[in-house]
Amino acid sequence: MAVQLTDAPESVLAIMAEADLVQVRQLLRAESARAGLGLVDQTKLITAGSELARNILTYADGARGSVRIHQVTGQRGRLGVRATFTDDGPGIDDLDRALTDGYSTSGGLGLGLPGSKRLVDEMTISSTSAGTTVVIVKWAR
Ligand SMILES: Nc1ncnc2c1ncn2[C@@H]1O[C@H](COP(=O)(O)OP(=O)(O)OP(=O)(O)O)[C@@H](O)[C@H]1O
Ligand SMILES: [Mg+2]
Repeated sequence: MAVQLTDAPESVLAIMAEADLVQVRQLLRAESARAGLGLVDQTKLITAGSELARNILTYADGARGSVRIHQVTGQRGRLGVRATFTDDGPGIDDLDRALTDGYSTSGGLGLGLPGSKRLVDEMTISSTSAGTTVVIVKWAR
């Protein structure tokens, strides 16, 4: 885990409806550009964030969902973006299975979580029957 030196103030967005995904993407784009991520890395972070936000809409429907996004500073002053997705939904029963390509409880492709993990530099999930939190980090090269 990289050392956090000077964390910038964070932005918080509610994730309750389809329209909120647009704002999540816009904020991830703005923060990743500000942190100096290249266009390809910006797009990877946005794609991962979109999947996690969509999961909140799909699986935590009606529960409070939100994302906190902020710039972080790691080793040797390297900048990055951290996004923390939280919901008060039913939680993920089996995290190992949820991270397996093709596993879906909704007839989806089952690629959201494992795909997101591949697109970012760090991803941690904690989940209980009271809700789920997924943290992703992408660093500037
Ligand atoms: N926030 C969440 N709360 C509860 N369960 C979740 C949450 N996110 C994911 N899951 C569970 O993990 C499984 C895998 O998620 P993943 O995003 O990889 O696939 P999917 O959503 O089923 O399909 P896809 O994302 O490819 O359309 C889901 O089917 C669901 O059971
Ligand atoms: Mg999904």
